[in-house]
Amino acid sequence: MRAYLCHAFGPLDQHHAGQLPDPTPADDEVIVQVEAAGVNYYDTLIVQGRYQLKPGLPFSPGGEFAGRISAIGAQVEGFQLGQRVLAFNSFGGYAEKARAKARQVFPLPDEVASDVAAAALVAYATAWHALHDRARMQPGETVLVLGAAGGVGLAAVQIARAAGCRVIAAASSDDKLALCAESGACLGINYREQALKEAVKAATAGRGADIVVDVVGDAYTEAAVRATAWRGRVLIIGFAAGEIPRVPANLLLLKGCDLLGVFWDEFLRREPESCHRQVAAVLAGIADGTLRPPIQGRYPIEHAGEALRVLAERRATGKLLITP
Ligand SMILES: NC(=O)c1ccc[n+]([C@@H]2O[C@H](COP(=O)([O-])OP(=O)(O)OC[C@H]3O[C@@H](n4cnc5c(N)ncnc54)[C@H](OP(=O)(O)O)[C@@H]3O)[C@@H](O)[C@H]2O)c1
Repeated sequence: MRAYLCHAFGPLDQHHAGQLPDPTPADDEVIVQVEAAGVNYYDTLIVQGRYQLKPGLPFSPGGEFAGRISAIGAQVEGFQLGQRVLAFNSFGGYAEKARAKARQVFPLPDEVASDVAAAALVAYATAWHALHDRARMQPGETVLVLGAAGGVGLAAVQIARAAGCRVIAAASSDDKLALCAESGACLGINYREQALKEAVKAATAGRGADIVVDVVGDAYTEAAVRATAWRGRVLIIGFAAGEIPRVPANLLLLKGCDLLGVFWDEFLRREPESCHRQVAAVLAGIADGTLRPPIQGRYPIEHAGEALRVLAERRATGKLLITP
Protein backbone atom coordinates (compact mmCIF):
# COMPACT_ATOMS: atom_id res chain seq x y z
CA MET A 1 0.00 0.00 0.00
CA ARG A 2 1.00 3.64 -0.41
CA ALA A 3 1.99 5.54 2.71
CA TYR A 4 3.83 8.69 3.73
CA LEU A 5 6.94 7.34 5.43
CA CYS A 6 9.44 8.37 8.05
CA HIS A 7 12.57 6.20 7.56
CA ALA A 8 14.68 8.22 10.04
CA PHE A 9 13.68 10.91 12.54
CA GLY A 10 14.49 14.35 11.17
CA PRO A 11 13.29 17.61 9.60
CA LEU A 12 9.92 17.74 7.88
CA ASP A 13 11.40 17.97 4.36
CA GLN A 14 13.24 14.63 4.56
CA HIS A 15 10.16 12.34 4.58
CA HIS A 16 8.41 11.08 1.43
CA ALA A 17 5.67 8.80 0.13
CA GLY A 18 6.57 5.14 -0.44
CA GLN A 19 5.29 1.58 -0.14
CA LEU A 20 4.57 -0.54 2.96
CA PRO A 21 3.15 -4.06 3.18
CA ASP A 22 -0.61 -4.10 3.86
CA PRO A 23 -1.17 -4.34 7.62
CA THR A 24 -2.82 -7.41 9.14
CA PRO A 25 -4.75 -7.02 12.39
CA ALA A 26 -3.56 -8.31 15.76
CA ASP A 27 -6.26 -10.13 17.72
CA ASP A 28 -7.53 -6.92 19.35
CA GLU A 29 -7.24 -4.68 16.26
CA VAL A 30 -9.16 -3.69 13.16
CA ILE A 31 -7.74 -2.46 9.86
CA VAL A 32 -9.32 0.65 8.37
CA GLN A 33 -9.31 1.48 4.65
CA VAL A 34 -8.45 5.15 5.18
CA GLU A 35 -10.62 7.77 3.45
CA ALA A 36 -9.23 10.74 5.39
CA ALA A 37 -6.66 11.30 8.14
CA GLY A 38 -6.48 14.42 10.28
CA VAL A 39 -3.19 16.35 10.50
CA ASN A 40 -2.26 17.21 14.08
CA TYR A 41 0.55 19.21 15.61
CA TYR A 42 2.07 16.09 17.17
CA ASP A 43 2.41 14.53 13.69
CA THR A 44 5.01 17.25 13.03
CA LEU A 45 6.82 16.26 16.24
CA ILE A 46 6.65 12.46 15.89
CA VAL A 47 8.51 12.41 12.51
CA GLN A 48 11.24 14.60 14.01
CA GLY A 49 11.67 12.28 17.02
CA ARG A 50 10.49 15.12 19.28
CA TYR A 51 7.32 13.42 20.57
CA GLN A 52 7.18 11.29 23.75
CA LEU A 53 6.29 8.26 21.58
CA LYS A 54 8.95 7.02 19.12
CA PRO A 55 7.55 4.36 16.73
CA GLY A 56 9.77 1.70 15.12
CA LEU A 57 11.12 2.73 11.69
CA PRO A 58 9.85 3.07 9.03
CA PHE A 59 6.44 4.35 10.08
CA SER A 60 3.73 6.64 8.83
CA PRO A 61 2.43 9.49 11.04
CA GLY A 62 -1.29 10.19 11.43
CA GLY A 63 -3.09 9.51 14.70
CA GLU A 64 -6.72 9.97 13.64
CA PHE A 65 -8.37 8.55 10.56
CA ALA A 66 -11.77 7.59 9.21
CA GLY A 67 -12.90 5.04 6.65
CA ARG A 68 -14.32 1.53 6.38
CA ILE A 69 -13.20 -1.57 8.28
CA SER A 70 -11.38 -3.94 5.91
CA ALA A 71 -10.17 -6.61 8.38
CA ILE A 72 -11.06 -7.60 11.96
CA GLY A 73 -8.86 -9.28 14.60
CA ALA A 74 -9.87 -12.67 16.01
CA GLN A 75 -10.96 -11.34 19.43
CA VAL A 76 -12.73 -8.16 18.29
CA GLU A 77 -16.47 -8.00 18.87
CA GLY A 78 -19.05 -5.40 17.92
CA PHE A 79 -17.64 -4.32 14.54
CA GLN A 80 -18.41 -5.50 11.00
CA LEU A 81 -16.46 -5.56 7.74
CA GLY A 82 -17.32 -2.47 5.69
CA GLN A 83 -18.55 -0.51 8.73
CA ARG A 84 -17.75 3.23 8.70
CA VAL A 85 -15.59 4.17 11.67
CA LEU A 86 -13.33 6.83 13.14
CA ALA A 87 -10.12 5.61 14.80
CA PHE A 88 -7.23 6.78 16.92
CA ASN A 89 -3.82 5.11 16.97
CA SER A 90 -1.05 7.69 17.65
CA PHE A 91 0.47 7.04 14.18
CA GLY A 92 -0.09 5.11 10.92
CA GLY A 93 -2.96 7.08 9.37
CA TYR A 94 -1.20 8.77 6.41
CA ALA A 95 -1.60 5.55 4.45
CA GLU A 96 -4.15 3.63 2.40
CA LYS A 97 -4.74 1.26 5.33
CA ALA A 98 -4.12 1.72 9.04
CA ARG A 99 -4.47 -0.39 12.18
CA ALA A 100 -6.19 0.57 15.44
CA LYS A 101 -7.03 -1.15 18.71
CA ALA A 102 -10.76 -1.92 18.67
CA ARG A 103 -11.20 0.01 21.93
CA GLN A 104 -9.90 3.10 20.10
CA VAL A 105 -12.41 2.81 17.25
CA PHE A 106 -15.66 4.78 17.20
CA PRO A 107 -18.68 3.93 15.01
CA LEU A 108 -19.59 6.77 12.62
CA PRO A 109 -23.19 7.97 12.31
CA ASP A 110 -24.49 8.09 8.70
CA GLU A 111 -24.86 11.88 8.90
CA VAL A 112 -21.12 12.46 9.52
CA ALA A 113 -18.86 12.27 6.44
CA SER A 114 -15.48 10.55 6.86
CA ASP A 115 -13.43 13.67 6.10
CA VAL A 116 -15.40 15.77 8.61
CA ALA A 117 -14.99 13.04 11.24
CA ALA A 118 -11.23 12.79 10.61
CA ALA A 119 -11.03 16.56 11.02
CA ALA A 120 -12.66 16.35 14.42
CA LEU A 121 -11.57 13.43 16.57
CA VAL A 122 -8.52 14.58 18.51
CA ALA A 123 -9.27 18.32 18.43
CA TYR A 124 -12.96 18.18 19.35
CA ALA A 125 -12.73 15.27 21.79
CA THR A 126 -9.83 16.99 23.58
CA ALA A 127 -11.66 20.31 23.76
CA TRP A 128 -14.85 18.57 24.93
CA HIS A 129 -13.01 16.60 27.64
CA ALA A 130 -11.19 19.77 28.74
CA LEU A 131 -14.21 22.07 28.94
CA HIS A 132 -17.07 19.79 29.99
CA ASP A 133 -15.22 17.20 32.04
CA ARG A 134 -12.09 18.81 33.52
CA ALA A 135 -13.32 22.43 33.85
CA ARG A 136 -17.03 21.70 34.42
CA MET A 137 -17.93 24.63 32.17
CA GLN A 138 -21.26 26.37 33.00
CA PRO A 139 -23.51 28.44 30.70
CA GLY A 140 -22.76 32.16 30.97
CA GLU A 141 -19.10 31.72 31.86
CA THR A 142 -16.37 33.56 29.96
CA VAL A 143 -13.97 31.21 28.15
CA LEU A 144 -10.63 32.54 26.86
CA VAL A 145 -9.11 30.35 24.13
CA LEU A 146 -5.41 30.75 23.22
CA GLY A 147 -4.27 29.52 19.79
CA ALA A 148 -7.98 29.80 19.04
CA ALA A 149 -7.72 29.29 15.27
CA GLY A 150 -5.81 26.01 15.60
CA GLY A 151 -7.32 22.53 15.74
CA VAL A 152 -8.08 22.27 19.46
CA GLY A 153 -8.59 26.03 19.76
CA LEU A 154 -11.35 26.32 17.18
CA ALA A 155 -13.04 23.21 18.55
CA ALA A 156 -12.99 24.83 22.00
CA VAL A 157 -14.51 28.03 20.59
CA GLN A 158 -17.41 26.09 19.05
CA ILE A 159 -17.97 23.79 22.05
CA ALA A 160 -17.94 26.67 24.55
CA ARG A 161 -20.29 28.73 22.39
CA ALA A 162 -22.67 25.78 22.00
CA ALA A 163 -22.73 25.48 25.82
CA GLY A 164 -23.88 29.09 26.16
CA CYS A 165 -20.55 30.62 27.17
CA ARG A 166 -19.03 33.94 26.11
CA VAL A 167 -15.89 33.16 24.11
CA ILE A 168 -12.83 35.38 23.80
CA ALA A 169 -10.46 34.15 21.09
CA ALA A 170 -6.73 34.92 21.17
CA ALA A 171 -4.56 34.32 18.09
CA SER A 172 -1.65 35.79 16.17
CA SER A 173 -3.38 37.39 13.17
CA ASP A 174 -6.59 39.17 12.24
CA ASP A 175 -7.36 36.50 9.61
CA LYS A 176 -7.22 33.84 12.30
CA LEU A 177 -9.44 35.93 14.57
CA ALA A 178 -11.98 36.34 11.75
CA LEU A 179 -12.22 32.54 11.53
CA CYS A 180 -12.79 32.41 15.31
CA ALA A 181 -15.57 35.00 15.02
CA GLU A 182 -17.26 32.82 12.35
CA SER A 183 -17.14 29.96 14.88
CA GLY A 184 -18.85 32.03 17.57
CA ALA A 185 -16.16 34.02 19.41
CA CYS A 186 -17.63 37.34 20.51
CA LEU A 187 -14.25 39.05 20.85
CA GLY A 188 -10.77 38.56 19.38
CA ILE A 189 -7.40 39.48 20.85
CA ASN A 190 -4.38 39.56 18.54
CA TYR A 191 -1.73 38.53 21.08
CA ARG A 192 1.08 39.51 18.73
CA GLU A 193 -0.05 43.12 19.02
CA GLN A 194 -1.91 43.36 22.32
CA ALA A 195 -0.89 42.46 25.89
CA LEU A 196 -3.04 39.43 26.75
CA LYS A 197 -3.77 40.16 30.42
CA GLU A 198 -4.74 43.79 29.87
CA ALA A 199 -6.90 42.94 26.83
CA VAL A 200 -8.81 40.21 28.71
CA LYS A 201 -9.31 42.41 31.77
CA ALA A 202 -10.61 45.22 29.54
CA ALA A 203 -13.03 42.80 27.83
CA THR A 204 -14.40 41.50 31.16
CA ALA A 205 -14.77 44.75 33.12
CA GLY A 206 -11.68 43.83 35.14
CA ARG A 207 -13.06 40.43 36.25
CA GLY A 208 -11.00 38.09 34.09
CA ALA A 209 -11.90 34.84 32.30
CA ASP A 210 -13.58 31.96 34.13
CA ILE A 211 -11.88 29.33 31.98
CA VAL A 212 -8.69 29.49 29.89
CA VAL A 213 -8.01 26.93 27.16
CA ASP A 214 -4.21 26.93 26.79
CA VAL A 215 -2.69 25.00 23.89
CA VAL A 216 0.29 27.33 23.41
CA GLY A 217 2.16 27.46 26.74
CA ASP A 218 5.40 29.47 26.96
CA ALA A 219 4.95 33.03 28.29
CA TYR A 220 1.26 33.00 27.30
CA THR A 221 0.37 30.72 30.22
CA GLU A 222 1.41 33.06 33.00
CA ALA A 223 -0.26 36.00 31.24
CA ALA A 224 -3.43 33.91 30.95
CA VAL A 225 -3.36 32.91 34.64
CA ARG A 226 -3.02 36.62 35.48
CA ALA A 227 -6.09 37.22 33.30
CA THR A 228 -8.16 34.60 35.17
CA ALA A 229 -11.15 35.39 37.40
CA TRP A 230 -11.66 34.29 41.01
CA ARG A 231 -12.23 30.47 41.02
CA GLY A 232 -11.05 30.36 37.41
CA ARG A 233 -9.79 27.17 35.71
CA VAL A 234 -6.79 27.14 33.40
CA LEU A 235 -6.66 24.08 31.14
CA ILE A 236 -3.10 23.00 30.34
CA ILE A 237 -3.38 21.20 27.00
CA GLY A 238 -0.25 21.87 24.94
CA PHE A 239 2.89 23.91 24.41
CA ALA A 240 2.78 24.82 20.70
CA ALA A 241 4.69 28.06 21.34
CA GLY A 242 7.72 26.10 22.57
CA GLU A 243 8.63 26.31 26.24
CA ILE A 244 6.85 24.45 29.02
CA PRO A 245 5.87 27.31 31.34
CA ARG A 246 6.44 27.65 35.10
CA VAL A 247 3.55 29.39 36.80
CA PRO A 248 4.16 31.23 40.12
CA ALA A 249 2.06 29.32 42.67
CA ASN A 250 1.08 32.50 44.50
CA LEU A 251 -1.11 33.45 41.52
CA LEU A 252 -3.23 30.33 42.10
CA LEU A 253 -3.56 31.19 45.79
CA LEU A 254 -4.51 34.81 45.13
CA LYS A 255 -7.19 33.89 42.60
CA GLY A 256 -8.47 30.70 44.24
CA CYS A 257 -8.02 29.24 40.77
CA ASP A 258 -7.06 25.83 39.41
CA LEU A 259 -4.53 24.66 36.85
CA LEU A 260 -6.01 21.53 35.25
CA GLY A 261 -4.01 19.06 33.16
CA VAL A 262 -5.65 17.57 30.07
CA PHE A 263 -4.28 14.46 28.35
CA TRP A 264 -6.86 12.99 25.97
CA ASP A 265 -4.84 9.90 24.86
CA GLU A 266 -4.44 8.84 28.47
CA PHE A 267 -8.11 9.59 29.21
CA LEU A 268 -9.05 7.25 26.32
CA ARG A 269 -6.71 4.56 27.69
CA ARG A 270 -7.76 4.81 31.34
CA GLU A 271 -11.45 5.73 31.06
CA PRO A 272 -12.57 4.28 27.71
CA GLU A 273 -16.31 4.21 28.45
CA SER A 274 -16.41 7.82 29.52
CA CYS A 275 -14.24 8.81 26.55
CA HIS A 276 -16.49 6.94 24.10
CA ARG A 277 -19.55 8.78 25.51
CA GLN A 278 -17.79 12.11 24.93
CA VAL A 279 -16.78 11.22 21.35
CA ALA A 280 -20.40 10.17 20.69
CA ALA A 281 -21.53 13.58 22.00
CA VAL A 282 -19.06 15.32 19.66
CA LEU A 283 -20.27 13.28 16.68
CA ALA A 284 -23.90 14.04 17.60
CA GLY A 285 -23.00 17.76 17.67
CA ILE A 286 -21.47 17.45 14.20
CA ALA A 287 -24.47 15.46 12.92
CA ASP A 288 -26.95 18.12 14.09
CA GLY A 289 -24.80 21.00 12.82
CA THR A 290 -23.97 22.52 16.23
CA LEU A 291 -20.27 21.74 15.71
CA ARG A 292 -18.66 22.44 12.32
CA PRO A 293 -15.05 21.29 11.89
CA PRO A 294 -13.54 23.70 9.35
CA ILE A 295 -11.50 21.95 6.66
CA GLN A 296 -8.78 24.13 5.13
CA GLY A 297 -7.08 21.68 2.80
CA ARG A 298 -6.93 18.11 1.52
CA TYR A 299 -3.57 16.60 0.53
CA PRO A 300 -2.83 13.26 -1.19
CA ILE A 301 -0.26 11.00 0.50
CA GLU A 302 2.44 12.29 -1.90
CA HIS A 303 1.97 15.84 -0.55
CA ALA A 304 1.54 15.03 3.15
CA GLY A 305 4.85 16.76 3.93
CA GLU A 306 3.42 20.02 2.63
CA ALA A 307 0.49 19.72 5.06
CA LEU A 308 2.92 19.14 7.95
CA ARG A 309 4.89 22.26 6.98
CA VAL A 310 1.75 24.43 6.77
CA LEU A 311 0.86 23.38 10.30
CA ALA A 312 4.37 23.72 11.73
CA GLU A 313 4.82 27.16 10.15
CA ARG A 314 1.62 28.41 11.80
CA ARG A 315 -0.12 28.94 8.45
CA ALA A 316 -3.13 26.69 9.14
CA THR A 317 -6.52 28.31 9.62
CA GLY A 318 -8.68 25.23 9.86
CA LYS A 319 -8.06 21.51 9.69
CA LEU A 320 -5.73 19.87 7.15
CA LEU A 321 -6.49 16.35 5.93
CA ILE A 322 -4.56 13.61 4.17
CA THR A 323 -6.90 11.90 1.71
CA PRO A 324 -5.33 8.76 0.24
N1 LIG B 1 -3.15 17.28 25.91
C1 LIG B 1 -3.82 16.69 24.94
O1 LIG B 1 -4.54 15.72 25.14
C2 LIG B 1 -3.67 17.27 23.57
C3 LIG B 1 -4.54 16.90 22.53
C4 LIG B 1 -4.40 17.50 21.28
C5 LIG B 1 -3.39 18.45 21.09
N2 LIG B 1 -2.54 18.75 22.11
C6 LIG B 1 -1.47 19.75 21.95
O2 LIG B 1 -2.09 21.01 21.86
C7 LIG B 1 -1.32 21.85 21.04
C8 LIG B 1 -2.20 22.41 19.94
O3 LIG B 1 -2.62 21.35 19.10
P1 LIG B 1 -3.45 21.69 17.79
O4 LIG B 1 -3.73 20.42 17.11
O5 LIG B 1 -4.57 22.61 18.12
O6 LIG B 1 -2.33 22.48 16.97
P2 LIG B 1 -2.49 23.59 15.83
O7 LIG B 1 -3.71 23.35 15.04
O8 LIG B 1 -1.17 23.68 15.18
O9 LIG B 1 -2.73 24.93 16.68
C9 LIG B 1 -1.78 25.41 17.58
C10 LIG B 1 -1.85 26.91 17.64
O10 LIG B 1 -0.77 27.33 18.48
C11 LIG B 1 -0.35 28.61 18.09
N3 LIG B 1 1.09 28.75 18.17
C12 LIG B 1 1.73 29.61 18.96
N4 LIG B 1 3.04 29.52 18.81
C13 LIG B 1 3.27 28.58 17.89
C14 LIG B 1 4.43 28.05 17.30
N5 LIG B 1 5.65 28.49 17.65
N6 LIG B 1 4.30 27.09 16.37
C15 LIG B 1 3.10 26.62 16.02
N7 LIG B 1 1.93 27.10 16.56
C16 LIG B 1 2.02 28.07 17.48
C17 LIG B 1 -0.86 28.83 16.67
O11 LIG B 1 -1.80 29.88 16.76
P3 LIG B 1 -1.35 31.40 16.64
O12 LIG B 1 -0.50 31.53 15.40
O13 LIG B 1 -2.65 32.08 16.54
O14 LIG B 1 -0.59 31.70 17.90
C18 LIG B 1 -1.63 27.57 16.30
O15 LIG B 1 -2.86 27.87 15.67
C19 LIG B 1 -0.14 21.02 20.55
O16 LIG B 1 0.97 21.27 21.38
C20 LIG B 1 -0.63 19.60 20.71
O17 LIG B 1 0.44 18.69 20.85
C21 LIG B 1 -2.66 18.18 23.32
